[in-house]
Amino acid sequence: MDVFRVEGPVQLSGSVRINGSKNASLPIMAATILAPGESTLKAVPHLSDISVCGELLGRLGCKLTRGSEGELCIDSTVIDNPVGEYEIVCRMRAGICILGPLLARCGRAEVSMPGGCAIGDRPVNLHLKGLKALGAQIHLKNGYIIAEAPNGLKGKDIFMGGPFGSTVLGTANVLMAATLAKGRTVIESAACEPEIADLANCLNKMGAKITGIGSPRLTIDGVEQLQPVSYEVVPDRIEAGTFIVAAAITASELRLQNCRLGDMMAVVDTLRYIGISIDAEGDGCVVSRRGLLNPVDVTTQPYPGFPTDLQAQFMALLSLAEGNSVVIEKVFPDRFMHVAELNRMAANLRKEGPTVIVAGVKKLIAAQVMASDLRASAALVLAGLAAEGTTIINRVYHIDRGYERIEERLNPLGAKIIRESV
Ligand code: EPZ
Repeated sequence: MDVFRVEGPVQLSGSVRINGSKNASLPIMAATILAPGESTLKAVPHLSDISVCGELLGRLGCKLTRGSEGELCIDSTVIDNPVGEYEIVCRMRAGICILGPLLARCGRAEVSMPGGCAIGDRPVNLHLKGLKALGAQIHLKNGYIIAEAPNGLKGKDIFMGGPFGSTVLGTANVLMAATLAKGRTVIESAACEPEIADLANCLNKMGAKITGIGSPRLTIDGVEQLQPVSYEVVPDRIEAGTFIVAAAITASELRLQNCRLGDMMAVVDTLRYIGISIDAEGDGCVVSRRGLLNPVDVTTQPYPGFPTDLQAQFMALLSLAEGNSVVIEKVFPDRFMHVAELNRMAANLRKEGPTVIVAGVKKLIAAQVMASDLRASAALVLAGLAAEGTTIINRVYHIDRGYERIEERLNPLGAKIIRESV
């Protein structure tokens, strides 16, 4: 098992290129199930979650290869085992997003229930509600979702909102299934995340008929057949936000390439309140911080609200602000595994249910800490860059799920991170 030794405090400088989005790549990889033949996906990052998704598709019968330019080729001509096995899905809950495409392609699917994780329960009731609305018969057996639609799927008007608002992968599952359903489907309260818009654009390039992309109402007119596709996924706005916080927490100036600020307006708005300057430059942006950090209140919400996937990273940053901030987590109310770990680094965080009061401190102190969910783990790396001393981060595999060798991206900018196997 690997650990990180992160020396701090450091100053960063230079530029970094943002990778393709993990959370766009995963549903788009699943979408290739819908179109028999070889699809080529570009800018898909080299992450453990992507490898696990590839393993899942391989078990279905797909053949996957990486081209010389890093493109991911998926041949879905043969799908002879429509089963998403527990031992894979439990490692990567996004595996649930093969359910909709398998049902649409094969007329049946068996996919393990994802189970919970460090950020809380991961229910799929809205996924199942949407697929049932399209005519699937669904029952649970031994922890598996058994879905059948022997006579195909039929378009329907479906409300997909839940107690925490829209569902990203629930929208993905129903959207993908609806592309091959007979007739028209309207998904109301659809997720508006850029990753879902990217999936919809990819599906349209495959021959689907989707309108309302980027809005909470998606309209899909079913077609007979989709074609394999060559498609480049959007840049990863969460990785971009993570590197932006790296600049802010170390009072550095960084340039980010391949970063779409238009996908991150809530984040940019919050940064400006904190006192970080961020301006578009070329195909990315330049970020710098000169003075002290202002405290702000952050509430996570479905897109276009502040993204839950940057909550932990911003909490690390606000730990050093001049005053009290309030962080409210409205998407995954238990997503606070990083609070106790940051407090071990002399942060002053007090959790009250889905709210954390962040009392700014003058400095963070290095400590031994434990990674948990991938974004909380990234927050610990960021805190280590600013903390005095050498922070040891255990269970680094959590970080590798969502960041491609993050130490090899940060060290050229001035970080001092050593990966050790223990
Ligand atoms: C996606 O997860 C992302 N994962 C998550 O990123 C992200 O945190 C999340 O969306 C929210 O933006 C991928 O895209 C692979 P949800 P997803 O369904 O789709 C509740 C990361 O760090 N809900 O939008 O699984 C759910 O409990 C990962 O990259 C139901 O109640 O999340 C949560 O409170 C972590 N019933 C809320 O909705 C359902 O059927 C949002 O969950 C489904 C969800």
